[in-house]
Amino acid sequence: MTCQQKQQIYNLLKTAADSVLGFRVKSFDTTPVFYDDPLPAPQNLQEQTDLHEPSLAAPAASSDHSSLDFSTVHSSLEDSICNLKNQISACSRCALAKTRNNTVPGTGSLKPVVLVVGEGPGFEEDRQGLPFVGPAGQLLDKMLAAISLSRSSNTYIANIVKCRPPQNRDPYPEEAEACSSFLQAQIALLKPKAILCVGSVAAKNLLKTEAGVSRLRGSFYQYHNIPVAVTYHPSALLRSQDLKRPAWEDLKQFRLKLLELCPDYESSCQSYVSH
Ligand code: URA
Repeated sequence: MTCQQKQQIYNLLKTAADSVLGFRVKSFDTTPVFYDDPLPAPQNLQEQTDLHEPSLAAPAASSDHSSLDFSTVHSSLEDSICNLKNQISACSRCALAKTRNNTVPGTGSLKPVVLVVGEGPGFEEDRQGLPFVGPAGQLLDKMLAAISLSRSSNTYIANIVKCRPPQNRDPYPEEAEACSSFLQAQIALLKPKAILCVGSVAAKNLLKTEAGVSRLRGSFYQYHNIPVAVTYHPSALLRSQDLKRPAWEDLKQFRLKLLELCPDYESSCQSYVSH
């Protein structure tokens, strides 16, 4: 079983205990750190040899090495992301740790063309431990689908803060600062081709600016050489119909940039998903 699966079962048990008993069970106060179960190595090697039997006639190491390298790259990336998720779930760097039900580290493709950065979890995200799963999340999924992006194929979704601010207020600067190394690590590990900041909290914290979305949208910025675009937060679009047209213009411009950076992203981006 992977650490993500263990974390999900733990989250379910915690939510179930909360709602059945109506109060927080003490033993759920500290989130444990989960690890992947180790693979039985000799059996795996045996399976690989069987699968690649014809290559026994070929020069010994080459094909074996390439397949080993490939899986090593993926498993170490997966391990690193999982490790980061464990660190996030054990984090108590700011006051949000005291009021959260679940941490919301992020989800999506581990080979993302795009990283979407939001603000922070809301009620539903805090309940499920997943980003953008409430009404704003449903709209975000539609916006992404309109430009051939999805969390199940080529996009990773994360937030500035990984714990819900009470009453969905904006995160305080010290909370965003305390959480910033997690997003930095996600970007360094996932190496997205481009970043889409949705909303001013994401843009201000990632780009270190005081400007709002209306000023920032329509241009590309750089974050460690990765192009960054800014558009309205889907919650803002749900509140104001007038923002839908400019947001659509932003998405069309973003799509053109993606086609420049990764011409076949719409058809051929490999699925590699972490839940
Ligand atoms: N709004 C955000 O900014 N992030 C979420 O994950 C959900 C709502």
